[in-house]
Amino acid sequence: MNNQTLDTIFTRSSYRGPFQDTPVPREDLVTILKAGIAAPSGCNRQTASFLAVDDGKVLDEIKRIFAKPSCQTMPACILVFTREIAGVDGHCYHVQDYGAAMENMLLAIKSMGYETCWYEGNVRGCAKEMADFLEVPEEYRLVCLLPVGIPAQELPPRKEKKAFEERAWFNRFGGR
Ligand SMILES: Cc1cc2nc3c(=O)[nH]c(=O)nc-3n(C[C@H](O)[C@H](O)[C@H](O)COP(=O)(O)O)c2cc1C
Repeated sequence: MNNQTLDTIFTRSSYRGPFQDTPVPREDLVTILKAGIAAPSGCNRQTASFLAVDDGKVLDEIKRIFAKPSCQTMPACILVFTREIAGVDGHCYHVQDYGAAMENMLLAIKSMGYETCWYEGNVRGCAKEMADFLEVPEEYRLVCLLPVGIPAQELPPRKEKKAFEERAWFNRFGGR
């Protein structure tokens, strides 16, 4: 079956290598941001927001604050923010909302010939400094960073996922 969406899903992997010194055109960044915006959200609250950075000086400061070696050559990046807004049922789905937006953007980035990695754990420690630098309003919490660029290195082998039988069943838990 020739299915480009499935191909992208099954070939995506986290890329933590260096990037080529090739700028990411603004229209490509807009497409990636639109993919994030297109994601579903709990009670349609649309709690995730996005900031793309393609300005060299701003990028330099982000690289200083987020000193991850694998991000030092990125020609652009996307920062993801969340807001804890309750749905009509009183529950806050903000984590699921930005998770869905992140996956949409990971797949968009991959399908457009770029590579990226979902940085969240490593961003936590510097999120406040980064948000202050970017003048982010108090109610928006910076949660993730996605570098965007053309890889300068061969992609590493994709990480093995656990066996299908260990994670997925039919009709009853453990059913085959
Ligand atoms: C919620 C979340 C947080 C993550 N945070 C980081 C991170 O801070 N640094 C990092 O190198 N990778 C991070 N990753 C990427 C995972 O390490 C990666 O997805 C996982 O090892 C599986 O590899 P794959 O993406 O190649 O399938 C994160 C992924 C998720 C979903």
